Amino acid sequence: MKGIILSGGTGTRMSPCTKVTNKHLLPIYSKPMIYYPLETLVNAGIKEILIVTGGNSPGDFLKLLGNGKEFGLKEIHYTYQEGAGGIAEALGLAEDFADNGKVAVILGDNIFEGSVKSAVKDFMDQPMGAKLFLKRVTDPERFGVAEIRGKKIVGIEEKPKKPKSQYAVTGLYMYDEKVFDVIKTLKPSRRGELEITDVNNFYIKQGTATFESVKGFWSDAGTFESLLRASNLVAKKASQSS
Ligand code: G1P
Repeated sequence: MKGIILSGGTGTRMSPCTKVTNKHLLPIYSKPMIYYPLETLVNAGIKEILIVTGGNSPGDFLKLLGNGKEFGLKEIHYTYQEGAGGIAEALGLAEDFADNGKVAVILGDNIFEGSVKSAVKDFMDQPMGAKLFLKRVTDPERFGVAEIRGKKIVGIEEKPKKPKSQYAVTGLYMYDEKVFDVIKTLKPSRRGELEITDVNNFYIKQGTATFESVKGFWSDAGTFESLLRASNLVAKKASQSS
């Protein structure tokens, strides 16, 4: 399965730090943010990776990651999202790279402690659809939130004022090759973006979305509070293992 890291956007929530660079190049403890999602994919055995960037400093991704050798990759592919059309629009740019196969998609500001290797294997065995990853959080209104009935997700609401559960939909998604057709049917949301939540709701309605809970810590890092939190979690883990 191929992997896609979405690291575009203008990073307005983190101005002035993002005035001269891309959010995903800011440090989380000892490494640039993008290293973490990249290592999550590489450690799950994914060897072909596309980085979709955007906004400031796109050339710095190449400077930082080069041809991917340092990560054990044969090569890294890069593309560029113009403007702020949303996560689903950024994913749409990966259609040719995906080449009619399944894809693992990770947001460049999502930090996962645990391995997702077995989830990749499970999804390879899943005949069709999508796989989503949930984490219980104390501030669900900041995320896409899953409504769960029994053992099923019945819908996801993007940043709801009154969340129907405490389960955030994290920024790791696995999709079958149909995802690019789904993206083409989307209409921009009120904030003018193509929402990944609409893609996920398509698969939920189709009855082909599976999900699992994320083991270990998970954090986004798209605000100053969450950046600090992610840094502290990573630092704590580093001190435990040294
Ligand atoms: C995005 C998604 C949201 C998801 C979150 C995970 O939100 O839209 O559904 O829960 O990533 O980090 P954003 O951080 O772009 O506002």
